[in-house]
Amino acid sequence: MCGIFGYSGNKQAQGLVIQGLKHLEYRGYDSSGIAMQTHSHKILIEKTHGKIKNLEATLKNNPLSGTTAIGHTRWATHGIPTPENAHPHLNESDELAVVHNGIIENYFELKQALQKQGVRFRSETDTEVIVHLVAKYYKGNLEEAVRRTLKDLKGTYAIAVISSSEPGKIVAAKMDSPLVIGSTKKESYLASDISALLEHTNHVTFIENGDVVTMNQGSFSITDIAGKKISRPVMKIDWDITQAKKGGYQHFMLKEIFEQPGILTAILKERIRGGAIYFDELKITAAQFKKIKRIFIIACGTAYHAGLTAKYILEDLAGIPVSIDTSSEFRYRDPKVDKSTLVIVVSQSGETADTLAGLREAKAKGAMTLAICNVLASSIAREAKGVIYTHAGPEIAVASTKAFTAQLTVLSLFAFYLGALFKTISPKKEKALLKELLLTPHRIQKILDGYKKEEATWKKNVHNFNIHYHTQLEKYFSAKNHERKRSPNGLFLYLGRNINYPIALEGALKLKEIAYIPAEGYPAGEMKHGPIALIDENPWVICLVPESKTYDKMISNIQEIRARGGRIIPIVTEGDKKIERLNPVFTIEVPKTPEIFSPLLTVIPLQLFAYLVALEFGEDIDQPRNLAKSVTVE
Ligand code: AGP
Repeated sequence: MCGIFGYSGNKQAQGLVIQGLKHLEYRGYDSSGIAMQTHSHKILIEKTHGKIKNLEATLKNNPLSGTTAIGHTRWATHGIPTPENAHPHLNESDELAVVHNGIIENYFELKQALQKQGVRFRSETDTEVIVHLVAKYYKGNLEEAVRRTLKDLKGTYAIAVISSSEPGKIVAAKMDSPLVIGSTKKESYLASDISALLEHTNHVTFIENGDVVTMNQGSFSITDIAGKKISRPVMKIDWDITQAKKGGYQHFMLKEIFEQPGILTAILKERIRGGAIYFDELKITAAQFKKIKRIFIIACGTAYHAGLTAKYILEDLAGIPVSIDTSSEFRYRDPKVDKSTLVIVVSQSGETADTLAGLREAKAKGAMTLAICNVLASSIAREAKGVIYTHAGPEIAVASTKAFTAQLTVLSLFAFYLGALFKTISPKKEKALLKELLLTPHRIQKILDGYKKEEATWKKNVHNFNIHYHTQLEKYFSAKNHERKRSPNGLFLYLGRNINYPIALEGALKLKEIAYIPAEGYPAGEMKHGPIALIDENPWVICLVPESKTYDKMISNIQEIRARGGRIIPIVTEGDKKIERLNPVFTIEVPKTPEIFSPLLTVIPLQLFAYLVALEFGEDIDQPRNLAKSVTVE
């Protein structure tokens, strides 16, 4: 969950490294630093607490001059965020520097052994053992010293190392943390992901586990840990740098919400050709899929919600039993999967540690594995037997939005593909439903257009929540002790049934992770089994009540909530005449669509609502506290 960047070329490196780190800041931003090979062959470093702008400000007064440098933006795992614990880390003579993304699991034993040999440590991090080991093994050849060091390490890493004795050279290595390199005629770049390379080149090479890269001003070579030469393909990336920039929106999150219609249109156009569904990159054959008796989906967070929604769609269209679990639960419970199970692994980043571990557990048990990923050639994408890319473009905001609807669209298409294979869906029904799916991007656009037109009303409603919440707090604190019952908790309840229950979970997660407000997604049918005790005039209840076979049941749930003073915000199908009788605080309409595709619509207002509440509360929407975009540590 950190970002590393390196440059070796013919230009001043400082500005390039800072710019590269800014593209990676969403991966972690509690401290950052840069190490520069200077022309006096000394390595100089600068490290600061907090975001990269703090490092930039420090460097403004004390710039570092040189053409080879490595940099790091951190999400702390070992050692609190301080300049001492920030990367890069130097060896004792300041002649070697390292940056690292990952966790060295045996760092404590290595540190003890090095300290016994008299090595003095300056930080509490696991990473610092790497640079002291490289120093221990260095005999004038940096890549040999790094290869020898890797043999001592256990854990995960993407590292870059420079030496004051070898001008221009950067040595990098990868084990389970992402690393990608790019080069132009006279310049070499390395980064944790491609968004940091795109302004320099869109021809990149993804480094694999066990690879050791040596780069120097435009040239690079790759070996394995034993020193045997390896070649890796150079891939052309069709993401341009503007996609990775804000495009005029105040936040990446809002930009990515508004990108959804275009992305889903592109996915559907690419995957539905002549009425048939294509997954060109899929290496699993139809004959292999035919042997599958059940599906098990694993994922984390929003990806889990996409998987849970897909469970309903796959069971409906492909008639196959689907189980689902969060990756962190799946990997430790000795899951009962085997060669007749298809394990679908959903992950935007393709680097989530628990999901990668769950994938490996499934493979070890002989299951067939299919990754649904957004990042090309990410670890999960490469280790699964088959992969279907969501092609949602770089998702920069920590709160996932476009990746979610892209995952859902791809999983829906996969359900159609299996349905046709297992003959559980008639060609007539498939044709009719695919036509509706193809209209989904236009329906999402209609919701977004409605939001833009009514933005002032949305903001007023959100502001009213803020007023109501703080009025309740004042009432509570001005009451005498004996009159106080319980503080208003500002709780948001999200209720849904059937295929919209996972959307209730997703809406609650969005509000929690960017507005830091207590929110809980719940199956509406469960309210009477306890949670309705929470209802008084305090909580706000967002009810997903589009046209569906459970519509009447949802209306009854809403009536029970209103009877106890609960404040409701229903998400309904446009033209719904019944809902106003229930006196909602405000109502949000979505276009009519078959129930099976309603989650792709009902999730949009929940993304926008969470965004506006976080905006009202002045939170750091794209980089919420305590979070990082890709949870690459367990
Ligand atoms: C979602 O908004 C969160 N950022 C988080 O729950 C995320 O979905 C989860 O960490 C999974 O990430 P992945 O899709 O990259 O595996």
